[in-house]
Amino acid sequence: LAGAASLGGLGLAMGMRPGLSMGQAVAATDLPARQRLLMPPLLDTTATGRVALTAQSGLTRFAGGAPSTTWGFNQGFLAPTILMRSGGLEATLDNSLDEDVTVHWHGLLVPGEHDGGPHTAIAPGRQLITPMSLDQGPATLWYHSHIHGATARHVYSGLAGVIHYTDGRDDARGLPSTYGVDDLTLLLQDRRFDPEGRMIYNPTYADILNGLLGNRVLVNGQPSPIAGVPPGLVRLRLVNGSNARIYSLHFNDTRPFHLVGTDGGLLPAPIEMTYLPLAPGERAEILVDFSQGPAPVLMSARGLSMTVLRFAIDDTLPVRISRVPDRIGDAIAPLVAPDGIITRQISLDMGGNSSGQVQSPGHQPSGSMDHSGHAGHASHAGHATATGPTGVPIHGQGPAVSGLIFDDFRINGRAYRMDRMDFEIRRGTIERWIVSGGGGVEHPFHIHGVHFQVESSGGGGPPLAQNSGWKDTVLLSGGASSLIMRFDHEATARFPYMFHCHILEHEDAGMMGQFTVT
Ligand code: C2O
Ligand code: CU
Ligand code: CU
Repeated sequence: LAGAASLGGLGLAMGMRPGLSMGQAVAATDLPARQRLLMPPLLDTTATGRVALTAQSGLTRFAGGAPSTTWGFNQGFLAPTILMRSGGLEATLDNSLDEDVTVHWHGLLVPGEHDGGPHTAIAPGRQLITPMSLDQGPATLWYHSHIHGATARHVYSGLAGVIHYTDGRDDARGLPSTYGVDDLTLLLQDRRFDPEGRMIYNPTYADILNGLLGNRVLVNGQPSPIAGVPPGLVRLRLVNGSNARIYSLHFNDTRPFHLVGTDGGLLPAPIEMTYLPLAPGERAEILVDFSQGPAPVLMSARGLSMTVLRFAIDDTLPVRISRVPDRIGDAIAPLVAPDGIITRQISLDMGGNSSGQVQSPGHQPSGSMDHSGHAGHASHAGHATATGPTGVPIHGQGPAVSGLIFDDFRINGRAYRMDRMDFEIRRGTIERWIVSGGGGVEHPFHIHGVHFQVESSGGGGPPLAQNSGWKDTVLLSGGASSLIMRFDHEATARFPYMFHCHILEHEDAGMMGQFTVT
């Protein structure tokens, strides 16, 4: 496996408009090596029980553009894929950057002390050693920095990587599991590039309202890569590591695929679908059959359609699994609400007026991509934002906002404060959280330290197929979602768990809260 030290530094030279044109199917024989999708290097902790990560800075050229300053763990941009399993894991975390970082293990069920939230900052030049005891089912998780007010910029710069949590039994399940061959990690992140090809982070207030959207989609840090796949069944581990973009994934030939895993683990049985929404923070594992027809293109349509990833059939790669298994994981027993269950109403608000509503002329949630990557935008009367003739803010005009902490991004009327505890939860109890989002934007809601089940969404409807398994992040759309969960892991007042919108600009601006489990 090509473990590039700087994944983005490939100098990809291509004659097409990356990420924007309708993809064309290509044959593997026509595939230049430099266009091939690379997997992040694999850090296998299953034998050693140890992992070492150093936050560092690098210079990365994207598609032959001018060099960009990027960050990563153990490399100049982004991070290795960490293979983990149940048992002891000692993480040694070093920070060679010149500002505080954390390593938050998103989806890993560890106590607040080891969770890597904003209270566990690692100062420049310092080292943090965290001995963890892991015990959960196989899943695709991820990790990223989580400094309050800086998470968006940190993740955008590259402080993010993927975790494969395994129990070593995928062969018995009939699931492809050869990393980079029939088991592909796909970290989806859109980024904004200037005309010289430099990756830039320059959010205006309008970008904070909508979450910053890029004008190119990177997969594992590469612009417009092509994935070589065997002519058989391939597992795609999709991780939405974007700051704000919601993908609506499907293939250009509308071929069906099978969902086999959600955020927190495997489904009992595959679910056939042709269309999969994936919001920031969410993961999905799907099986795709590449044995028939020309290689398809993975697209995202929300408004205009855009290419996410092209594929090329590579007959030299072995086909290990050719049919979708009937059953995969253990049955998921629905959590039963105990008598007198604690129910919390949680409402995500944004905007400066008392109703929490934002004017949103022609707003399409996280929507369509035009050639500059702009979706429909909410405007905000209380802030100076350049607006076009339709009242829609114009990107790149009006000052970029330097710090992202505001008071008008709130949960239950309050912006996040590191020194205020929002909930105190009794360890071992089951709670129901009724969560709704405001401001005309779909918010992906995430909770640390727990996996939940979605009881209903859209104000009472049954959970969507993609929300039928264990989740830690759920997209709130069209009315309240009801979540049920048991809090089994401890988080003290010193190291509480977070709950927040995973549009990172919203989170940084204050759409976050914290709780203890004791
Ligand atoms: Cu992915 Cu609080 O984070
Ligand atoms: Cu998290
Ligand atoms: Cu939000």
